[in-house]
Amino acid sequence: MTNFPPRNFPRTRLRRPRQAEWSRRLVAETRLTPADLIWPIILREGAGVREPVASLPGVERVSIDLAVEAARAARDLGVPALALFPFTGPEHRSPRGDLALDRGNLMCRAAEAIKAAVPDVGLIADVALDPYTDHGHDGVLVGGEIDNDATVEILVRQAIVQAGAGYDVVAPSDMMDGRVGAIRDGLEAAGYKNTQIVSYAAKYASALYGPYRDAIGASGVLKGDKRTYQMNPANTDEAVHEMALDVAEGADGVMVKPAGFYLDVIRRARVEIGAPTYAFQVSGECAMIEAAGANGWIDRDRAVMESLMAIKRAGADAIISYFAPWAARALG
Ligand code: PBG
Repeated sequence: MTNFPPRNFPRTRLRRPRQAEWSRRLVAETRLTPADLIWPIILREGAGVREPVASLPGVERVSIDLAVEAARAARDLGVPALALFPFTGPEHRSPRGDLALDRGNLMCRAAEAIKAAVPDVGLIADVALDPYTDHGHDGVLVGGEIDNDATVEILVRQAIVQAGAGYDVVAPSDMMDGRVGAIRDGLEAAGYKNTQIVSYAAKYASALYGPYRDAIGASGVLKGDKRTYQMNPANTDEAVHEMALDVAEGADGVMVKPAGFYLDVIRRARVEIGAPTYAFQVSGECAMIEAAGANGWIDRDRAVMESLMAIKRAGADAIISYFAPWAARALG
């Protein structure tokens, strides 16, 4: 573009192609389709249960039978995959998050049920201990610190359990060092050669995860913050470093999270890493749009579409978003 000869008005009128809808459609540079979206599902125990999450309007915790319904809906809407997360009450949490390794846990039973009913929808499991620890951290605490290497050992076993239950993708969201390589070796050794790893490689210590922590039952229990393992929002070279390392360790795709405040990082992932690029439009991003929309301060529907388009335009191949089912329906 910059090498073009000089242009000037009125020979150049950039408004010309914007006059009619047909023309705007024809020259659109970015297209958003249901195939770009991943639908996050928050699981809970029980049957026929839908439980609203106050801080995340429009999202409900659902029991496994309704998660199966969601998988059918995803298939019918053309949404390729679901990302599953479990709600765990305080009574089932423990210092080391033992429930993460239980082959009969909610995550595993959900994968089995969904794969039996709707095998062609992709299933993504979050690998991290925060749904299971009594202190709400993603790893284990040793002497008041999150112990990297002890955590990685547990995460490898968690990922193998998830792969065994039927997850197509394991997505480590814990930000421990060395976990992607360890999980990749573990999966190979256990015979899960085709299980993908999509690493939350550039995951920031963000203020935008609050509603999610409410949804999985971690808010009340979380002690302190996650700044010794999640990234400083000031940094982007470090994000490239993280992503390159994870790809070298065997990740099939990398994730940037949150999405909307980190479009520059998504762009760098696309341009400098070149692996499949995922972006997570997190709970707080969705909650902000819903809240402003509910107040009549912005047009909620347009803001949702614009937010997703911006993430795609920045360079994401796939977007995890709580808006996925609504947006897929709206996109037809
Ligand atoms: C943690 C995890 C988090 C999210 C997904 N996996 C939160 C955190 O790091 O505390 C956030 C998702 C969201 O806000 O929608 N393993």
